[in-house]
Amino acid sequence: MFGARCLLRALRSCSSAPCPRHKPTAKLSVRDALGAQNASGELVKVQGWIRSVRSQKEVLFLHVNDGSSLESLQVVADSSFDSRELAFGSSVEVQGQLVKSLSKRQNVELKAEKIEVVGNCDAKAFPFKYKERHPLEYLRQYPHLRCRTNVLGSILRVRSEATAAIHSFFKPSSKIKVPEENFFNVPVFLTVSGQLHLEVMSGAFTQVFTFGPTFRAENSQSRRHLAEFYMVEAEISFLESLQDLMQVMEGLFKTTTMTVLSNCPEDVELCHKFIAPGQKDRLEHMLKNNFLIISYTEAVEILKQASQNFTFTPEWGADLHTEHEKYLVKHCGDIPVFVINYPLALKPFYMRDNEDSPQHTVAAVDLLVPGVGELFGGSLREERYHFLEQQLARYLDLRRFGSVPHGGFGMGFERYLQCILGIDNIKDVIPFPRFTHSCLL
Ligand code: 4AD
Ligand code: MG
Repeated sequence: MFGARCLLRALRSCSSAPCPRHKPTAKLSVRDALGAQNASGELVKVQGWIRSVRSQKEVLFLHVNDGSSLESLQVVADSSFDSRELAFGSSVEVQGQLVKSLSKRQNVELKAEKIEVVGNCDAKAFPFKYKERHPLEYLRQYPHLRCRTNVLGSILRVRSEATAAIHSFFKPSSKIKVPEENFFNVPVFLTVSGQLHLEVMSGAFTQVFTFGPTFRAENSQSRRHLAEFYMVEAEISFLESLQDLMQVMEGLFKTTTMTVLSNCPEDVELCHKFIAPGQKDRLEHMLKNNFLIISYTEAVEILKQASQNFTFTPEWGADLHTEHEKYLVKHCGDIPVFVINYPLALKPFYMRDNEDSPQHTVAAVDLLVPGVGELFGGSLREERYHFLEQQLARYLDLRRFGSVPHGGFGMGFERYLQCILGIDNIKDVIPFPRFTHSCLL
C-alpha cells in the first residue's frame, strides 16, 4: 500500500504534461477528499467501490470507498442516475463538485455530475452482504476478496502504518537496513531468519536491522504460526548486556504502537470496538507500564507453584509452552514480560554462554505479551572464538577478525499486529496467509 498523497503527486505531475485532448479533472483519494478543508465546489474525480446505496425520492446517496480510509465518501446524485448497476460492491468513477456537507455525519460530500460504473458486481453472488458484519472466519474463505471489507481494510492499513513506523524507529539513529537477498544462480534455501546476515553487517555497521519475509516449515495450524511470516530483526554491536537489548525491544514496541495509534485511530478503534472489546484498556496498560523481567529459572518456579494443571508439566530444562507463556503473562498482571537466561541445551549455538553452574544457561531473551505469548526472541551472541570452535567457518571468521560483543532480536510482525489489535488468529493480520497444507493464494 502506498500513500494516497504519493499517488496524487504522481497524477498531478502527469496532468501537468501537455495533453492534447482535454484538461483532466483532479483525481482525489477518498481520504484526501474527506480531509479537504473549505471545500467549495472544486471539480474532482474519485474512484472506488460502492459500500452503500440509498435511494430517496429525488436524491441518490452512494458511499464510495477506495481503501485509503475507513470512512467512505458520500456521493449525492440526482435520482436520474439511479440504476441497477449502482450496486454494493460495484466499482465506479464519480466526477463532480466537492462541497461542504449539510449533514453532521461528514464534512464534505461529492455532488455527482457524472457516474461511470467501471465494473458491475452481482450482489447475489458476491459473498459479502451489505450491512452484514461477517465473522473473520467467514472472511478467511475469501482471501482474494476480503480486503474489500471494513475490518480487513482497517487491519491492513494498520499493518502498513506499523511497517512505516518500524522503519522510522530504526532510521534516526543511522541504523542501516540490510536488504534481503532475492536472486541467486545456485540452489538456495528460504531463510528462517536474517540474523546471520545481520551479524555479518554488524561487523562494519554498529546498528543494523532487516524487515522481511521469513519461512518456517512449522507443522502447525495454530493461531500464532504461519509458514511465511514477516520478522523485524536488529543486531547491535558493542552491546554487552541483555538490559541494553531489552531497552531497544521495549522501545520498538512502544514507539511503533504510539505512532500507529496516533496515525490511524479510526482503524484501531474499529478492531478494538468490534473484534476485541477491552483491548484498548489492555493496550494502554501495556504502554504505560515498564515491561517486567524474570529469569527462566524464576519462570519455572512460578509455574511449579501454580494451582493450574498444565498439559506439559513445568520442569527446569524443558521448553516453555504456550500454556506456560499465557500463565506467566497473567501472573505478571498482563504486562509484557521478558524471560531471560534459558538453559544452554534449549537454545541455538550462537547464544552467549553465561558460564554459570550448576544450571548452565545462555544470555537469551524472549518477550511474552498478553494474548499472543512469545513476540520477540533474541540474545547476546557468542562473540568468543574458542566457544564456537567446530561451528560454521564464516561465523568463526567474524570472531577471528575484530570480534565485538553484540546482540540482537527478532519480532514476529504478525504477532505484533495481533497483540496491539487484539486479533485472535494470525491468519487475519496478513494479506495472504500460508501455513501447513494451505496456500490458497
Ligand atoms: O524466536 P525466533 O525463532 O528468533 C529468531 O529467529 C532469531 N534468529 C531472531 C534474531 O535474534 N535475529 O523468532 C522470532 C520471532 C518469534 O518471537 C515470533 O514472534 C516470530 O518470530 N515467529 C513466528 N511468527 C509467526 N509464525 C511463525 N511460524 C513464527 N516463528 C517465529
Ligand atoms: Mg523463539
